[in-house]
Amino acid sequence: MTSSRSAAMRVVEPEANQPAVGAAHGDSATIAEIGAGLLAPQAAVSPKYFYDGMGSKLFEAITELPEYYPTRTEAAIFAAHGADMAACTGPGMTLLDLGAGNCAKAASLFPLLQPKHYVPIDISRDFLNGAVERLRQRFPHIEMTPLALDLAGPFALPPEVGHERRQFFYPGSSIGNFTPREAVNFLRHVRENIGADGGLLIGVDLVKDHGVLNAAYDDAIGVTAAFNLNMLRHLNHLAGANFDVTLWRHIAFFNAAESRIEMHLEALEAQTVRWSGGERAFARGERIHTENSYKYTRESFTALLAEAGFRVDGVWTDAAEWFAVMHARVAE
Ligand code: AVI
Repeated sequence: MTSSRSAAMRVVEPEANQPAVGAAHGDSATIAEIGAGLLAPQAAVSPKYFYDGMGSKLFEAITELPEYYPTRTEAAIFAAHGADMAACTGPGMTLLDLGAGNCAKAASLFPLLQPKHYVPIDISRDFLNGAVERLRQRFPHIEMTPLALDLAGPFALPPEVGHERRQFFYPGSSIGNFTPREAVNFLRHVRENIGADGGLLIGVDLVKDHGVLNAAYDDAIGVTAAFNLNMLRHLNHLAGANFDVTLWRHIAFFNAAESRIEMHLEALEAQTVRWSGGERAFARGERIHTENSYKYTRESFTALLAEAGFRVDGVWTDAAEWFAVMHARVAE
């Protein structure tokens, strides 16, 4: 009985790494974007496609890795210098948390920053609402207005945000996943929404020893490799693609000329990949570019902020200067 049931299950279950073409769950714009990226002369897919349920969990695991220093280094900077940052931001403001996720980083700073109103912004409303519900119990005196907004292009804040002084918060060095040009545009959009007396507190990963950088994106136990490869499963789900994840490998390296970590997926053998509405033959060794993570110096990031119309009035780092938290205001 048991054996015949498991035999039947083997027949109906698809091969784990050979999903059928055509089972696309993304909308048509998503499939078109993925298809265009895969067909580009240098194939590339946006890093936003890392983050399905599994990808978000793998990213959380990355932040715990001994090699991945940014998360704990930034946390140590907040712990050591939070009071100075609070003196710079001043209490009683509206705190706008960009890409808030589970809101944990901002919430850990509430006792120091003392916001009057907290506005977490993220693309996923469901995720935000759950996190905010829990925070309301812990901080009943802080007004909370979760906003589901795509920050990829220009954005306008709705009237519920109010007209109190605005303090934007963008930790985690997520700014590094934009190209410098995109980062300037993004920061200009922040500036358009900040008001004359607002501020921006931002986490920036700094250039350092290349061995340290390379290890942070190619860890010994392969969590970052799994994070990168998992994107192929996500593309299979969204675009009905038939990537076989066992035929690709994770590549990560620091490109010093561009001052960025690059992540790629490299084909281990020649193969044709199909998805809803398209296909591409990949030669052995051909790559799909999946992420850039730009690393700045204090000076280069100060210049980037200046291009977006900000002047820096606070910089805090760890002793090794691996990571910086910077505060900026609108330049006159
Ligand atoms: C989300 N972001 C800041 C991470 C980074 O370091 O660029 C994403 C990441 N990619 C691989 N490891 C971590």
